[in-house]
Amino acid sequence: MSEALYPVPAQWAQDALVDDAGYQAMYNRSVEDPEGFWREAAQRIDWIEPFVTVKQTSFHEADFGIKWFAEGSLNLCANALDRHLAERGDTVAILWEPDDPADPERRITYRQLHEDVCRFANLLKSRGVKKGDRVTIYLPMVPEAAVAMLACARIGAIHSIVFAGFSPEALAGRIVDCDSTIVLTADEGLRGGKKVPLKANVDAALAHCPAVDTVIVYRRTGADVPMAPGRDVDWAGEVTAQSADCPPEAMNAEDPLFILYTSGSTGKPKGVLHTTGGYAVWAAMTHEYVFDYRPGQIYWCAADVGWVTGHSYVVYGPLMNGATTVMFEGVPNFPDPSRFWQVVDKFGVEIFYGAPTALRALMREGDDWVTRTSRKSLRLLGSVGEPINPEAWEWYHKVVGERRCPIVDTWWQTETGGIMITPLPGATALKPGSATRPFFGVQPALVDTEGNFLEGATDGCLVIKDSWPGQMRTVWGDHERFFQTYFSTFKGLYFTGDGCRRDADGYYWITGRIDDVINVSGHRMGTAEIESALVAHAKVAEAAVVGMPHDIKGQGIYAFVTTNANVEPDEALRKELVQWVRHEIGPIATPDVIQFAPGLPKTRSGKIMRRILRKIGENDVSNLGDTSTLADPSVVDHLLANRLQLN
Ligand code: PRX
Repeated sequence: MSEALYPVPAQWAQDALVDDAGYQAMYNRSVEDPEGFWREAAQRIDWIEPFVTVKQTSFHEADFGIKWFAEGSLNLCANALDRHLAERGDTVAILWEPDDPADPERRITYRQLHEDVCRFANLLKSRGVKKGDRVTIYLPMVPEAAVAMLACARIGAIHSIVFAGFSPEALAGRIVDCDSTIVLTADEGLRGGKKVPLKANVDAALAHCPAVDTVIVYRRTGADVPMAPGRDVDWAGEVTAQSADCPPEAMNAEDPLFILYTSGSTGKPKGVLHTTGGYAVWAAMTHEYVFDYRPGQIYWCAADVGWVTGHSYVVYGPLMNGATTVMFEGVPNFPDPSRFWQVVDKFGVEIFYGAPTALRALMREGDDWVTRTSRKSLRLLGSVGEPINPEAWEWYHKVVGERRCPIVDTWWQTETGGIMITPLPGATALKPGSATRPFFGVQPALVDTEGNFLEGATDGCLVIKDSWPGQMRTVWGDHERFFQTYFSTFKGLYFTGDGCRRDADGYYWITGRIDDVINVSGHRMGTAEIESALVAHAKVAEAAVVGMPHDIKGQGIYAFVTTNANVEPDEALRKELVQWVRHEIGPIATPDVIQFAPGLPKTRSGKIMRRILRKIGENDVSNLGDTSTLADPSVVDHLLANRLQLN
């Protein structure tokens, strides 16, 4: 790994919200006096009722619980919109760039957004949605997705966004899991010039969701989609009749704000639940400090609202800070690989926050697509979702940012609500590939597999020692699973699932997942989920899935499949299985490689030795480790002899 060091540019150290000394002082206070630190930090929120206690948290089984600002009440939508109206009602809140650059952009001011949200909130109420009800959102990247989120927050409904790339099956599972009776969608989505049949997907999903009685359909393309009388409602047609007056609901700090499903190492995706007060403080504060955000700056986070990055850094964090947030409907390489940088020039974007997978794909297309654009507005770059390899980091820094823009490589998770380990641009000297140092209040530590703390420069399992306000509060409907998943591996510690190295300067280098989760293009996939999709196919007896290195995606999906006794595995079946998984989960779960195997390596007690499969997936087969407990060692020889490469 590269150990190049990029000092903080002098101008940044001078102008930023905090310099290095400022960071050290604030960080020390945040961990030595968390009560005092967070009592002050939480004043950035407009509370309806002030809180009394700051922090009531324990990661130990005996008194396990996580509460922040417990007696306080607030409304997050009011913090994102109403509070800005007097001062910057006419500032653009959302700057929307459509998929096709020939189509017009949309500029929605805070005042207009407030009105749209109030009307839509009243439409939700008119359909019977109340505080605490779950609203499933399956929308493309259009401003209405933000309107829907904020409208839910305004009336206290809990939104559950399902990424619009998920299949009807995956959508149905998430609707049923949280007992949602209403779905918000569009006729079709548009991405990279292709249409996505969202309403048709919803119709297919709802065959498995009898409780859903309302579908509100936003017309994006105007396609002629069937509308079920009584159930399906036209968004624009209904919303105009609603009043623009909708008082925000007073929400307790610990009332739920949203559910977001994410993959874990076992079982079905978990409904990660975030509550209102702590999340609001965390999203707003991290957005301000990490991006050194000042009102008036044009800020673009190129994530989809279907992922947590879109929740915290396209919508909630920036809007709470009065930002102009760019929302992009398209993809980085449509109509050509210059698109990101053309949008930067078009809007004068100052802060750009993107994913390594996109950067690697663009890097491969050559520098000319970048250098033909100006990018002179850019001041700061960010990275999120997966480890950024030093080569991609250097390219981002040199070619995109012309060595002028610091890069904030931000490590965090759906569960953490917001950024956890990150440089601050005025404070932190950068090392390409390192997420560097903890944000205020975050106490990372490395432990060995027995849970012993490791000191100094070392490798280990990344844990967090104490709670932070943005932390998830439970798994929807399964509090025991919440405890078991995150707090039982290492007693009294939050286990991230990530491996990590700490260097002699105390910088953290995330090395990737050490559980059965793979990170495909920055999207988390549980191997168990893909395996259960595969075994659901009539011709499949058994399946095991591991990650494999992939130049663009970071990790690809390598599947070992044993077919039923009477089935001859062939190319046609391979294609069929790829389609099957796409259909069951969605295109993001497309296997890159399917290797047919007459048997999987198992111990005598019948447990699959995944360690061996991982090594085959990684093509690191020189030392497979101890194979003496295998029931049938010849299985491994067969697997090795038939290992497949990426095409
Ligand atoms: O493995 C880490 C990786 O993404 C995981 C979290 O995925 P998800 O919940 O989908 O959230 C993604 C957006 C925050 C982590 O456990 N990850 C995320 N950011 C980084 C990262 N790995 C290395 N460096 C990062 N900056």
